[in-house]
Amino acid sequence: MADRYTPRVSADPALKSYASMVDSRLDALLPPETQRPSELHRAMRYSCLAPGKRLRPALCMASAGAVGGDPTAALDAGCAVEMLHCFSLIHDDLPAIDNDDLRRGRPTCHRVYGEALAILAGDALFARSLEVLAGIAAQDSVRVRSVSLLTRAAGSDGLVGGEVLDVLSEGRDVDAETLRFIHSRKTGALIAAACQIGGLLGGGSEAQVQALGAFATDIGLAFQIADDLLNVLSTADALGKSTGSDRERAKATYPALYGVQRSREIADEAVVRAIAALDPLPDNPSREALRTLARFAVERDS
Ligand code: IPE
Ligand code: IPE
Ligand code: MG
Ligand code: MG
Repeated sequence: MADRYTPRVSADPALKSYASMVDSRLDALLPPETQRPSELHRAMRYSCLAPGKRLRPALCMASAGAVGGDPTAALDAGCAVEMLHCFSLIHDDLPAIDNDDLRRGRPTCHRVYGEALAILAGDALFARSLEVLAGIAAQDSVRVRSVSLLTRAAGSDGLVGGEVLDVLSEGRDVDAETLRFIHSRKTGALIAAACQIGGLLGGGSEAQVQALGAFATDIGLAFQIADDLLNVLSTADALGKSTGSDRERAKATYPALYGVQRSREIADEAVVRAIAALDPLPDNPSREALRTLARFAVERDS
């Protein structure tokens, strides 16, 4: 299974090259297994270097390019976002949260290393993520703002807050506003931070960073609706994670509230809005890459 699950965000050569840059940079930025405590570093590397789509770093790098900057200036920031994302996946899969056995085509971190190591590997990835972001080569004001964007996206009004409501909503009837609130926090917030940080590192103006935030908010929504749909419609082989689990756990999802067809329409509408939000940015290949990533958010099969 591990070898068969090799997702990529796009066949676009620039986006493919971002993903391989991210893979090698993550390898360099993560502590080596030879360093004590080896078990912890092995668990961090196991989850973070597993085959992921690297969507958030791709968005971060393309955002830097879309405001006229150099996408590689956002490589380390993209890796920081990916480490934080990997922390969230490890904790999301824990028995106390979603209790999942499969992630990125492999047994989940806690299945391989045990719960204690999985919790701590997640914690250490969170810390390393911030250490990497605080150390990027950029003006102090840009670094401070980037760290602030990432920590806010991760916290109680972002990813962690969304995860809390996701768990508390299991088995309950959730209204449309609450469902949107959950998705915008648990998934949208980090995607928005990835794009805004990329825009800052590319030297974007305040208006451009705001446009990227608006773009990403809709991509985040579309991306999580697609995740809900894939949980209903796809297979574990194609997705690299279990399917049918949202229904088993009576999760609050778009297909549960709106049905498959209407959920698709809502996701497609969000992508149209996202693409329109990019209009104020200069017409360049990175803006086109962001459009490709927007479509990928809903057209993907993994
Ligand atoms: C999974 O994210 C969790 C969600 C927010 C839906 P991805 O679908 O980006 O997972 P990887 O990084 O490719 O494994
Ligand atoms: C996605 O949660 C958000 C985070 C992991 C923070 P889900 O539980 O919906 O995502 P998958 O389907 O397990 O990847
Ligand atoms: Mg979850
Ligand atoms: Mg989950």
